[in-house]
Amino acid sequence: MDTWLVTGGAGFIGSNFVSLARKSGLARIVNLDKLTYAGNLDSLDRVQGDPDHIFVQGDIGDRALVAGLLATYRPQAIIHFAAESHVDRSIQDPTAFLTTNVLGTMVLLDGALAYWRTLGPQAAQAFRFLQISTDEVFGSLGPMDPPFTETHPFAPNSPYAASKAGADHLVRAYHETHGLPTLTTHCSNNYGPYQYPEKLIPLMILNARRKEALPVYGDGRQVRDWLHVDDHCEALCRVLAKGRPGSVYNIGGNCERGNLDLIGELCAALDALLPAGAPHKDLIKHVTDRPGHDRRYAIDAGKMKRELGWEPRMTLAEGLKKTVDWYLGHDAWVDAVCARGHAAWMETQYANRVAAPAGEGRA
Ligand code: NAD
Ligand code: TYD
Repeated sequence: MDTWLVTGGAGFIGSNFVSLARKSGLARIVNLDKLTYAGNLDSLDRVQGDPDHIFVQGDIGDRALVAGLLATYRPQAIIHFAAESHVDRSIQDPTAFLTTNVLGTMVLLDGALAYWRTLGPQAAQAFRFLQISTDEVFGSLGPMDPPFTETHPFAPNSPYAASKAGADHLVRAYHETHGLPTLTTHCSNNYGPYQYPEKLIPLMILNARRKEALPVYGDGRQVRDWLHVDDHCEALCRVLAKGRPGSVYNIGGNCERGNLDLIGELCAALDALLPAGAPHKDLIKHVTDRPGHDRRYAIDAGKMKRELGWEPRMTLAEGLKKTVDWYLGHDAWVDAVCARGHAAWMETQYANRVAAPAGEGRA
């Protein structure tokens, strides 16, 4: 069986990926995660007791640790999820974003390169470094613009997106300069189980459940392309198995929604699963917009379909229902996350966001 070094495997997408990889017997997993506020061992309940899941608490920026793990476990691939991932936090303080997303990725690439150079020709040819990136590096689209393709120029607008773009450029450079067999994916907004509730969908579910306001930034007409995390993880397996070294792949849900429309669909799912007397959408409240808020993201995932035969499988209605069901049925996970600092974040981020007129927002 192959061994993969996964970074950030206690986060939202990483923990779903690790669970899928182990359930499908794809590889033994060495899971390197710093356990920041977003990392959570409770999210690894599906691999608890599995001897082929080895968890290591540590920082991707720790050179000695990275070198030691690569020398000890001799993986066939590195799958790099670890990152600071929330735009609003990057606006408050970008330091950790630059440290982990840029410098941490550089240390990981250095470790990967040194290790890769020790491999025999066959193993070196088969080795892969998979950089998990985001559509946010491409910046914002106008309403009639075609979706982002892999060659769309980078134009990041938030410190988070800028830090991911920096990391992506480094990955490209290590391939071009040193020949390291890298792969890069740009994915659209994910949703599903185990997502930290600072992000839109779980935040709205938890607030709705408590009958608290659903805070919509600005006019709520910003557009995102939504993909269920299971579909994303399957796409990543496809890229690992069949992607061409040095290539970039855009992964998306073919599912553009304005935020207000999405929240409306989510509220309808909540009304069905958790009848509350009044419709949940009555809780919607427009608040001060996010500075530099990107108006629209959309992904052209045609290359994934043409070259790797991948397409998203889950419909938004099905995915939202499953996600609402999951959050309503996992009180222990939610309560532990809230107790560990999420409540404090909600206070910092939302307490002083005054109600905004529904027309407010970037054109
Ligand atoms: P997340 O914030 O839920 O998880 C990040 C994980 O990385 C956490 O477990 C955290 O402890 C770990 N981590 C942070 N800094 C670390 C460090 N220095 N060393 C080791 N571990 C560290 O993030 P997510 O939503 O699961 O996103 C995973 C990746 O996918 C990120 O690279 C993100 O940019 C990318 N991405 C996310 C989305 C999305 O919608 N969530 C979409 C596209 C791409
Ligand atoms: P988010 O989940 O933070 O993802 P991203 O900013 O990476 O796309 O936000 C998704 C969209 O929802 C984005 O347009 C910002 C908006 N949003 C709100 O309107 N209210 C909120 O409380 C949050 C967290 C996000």
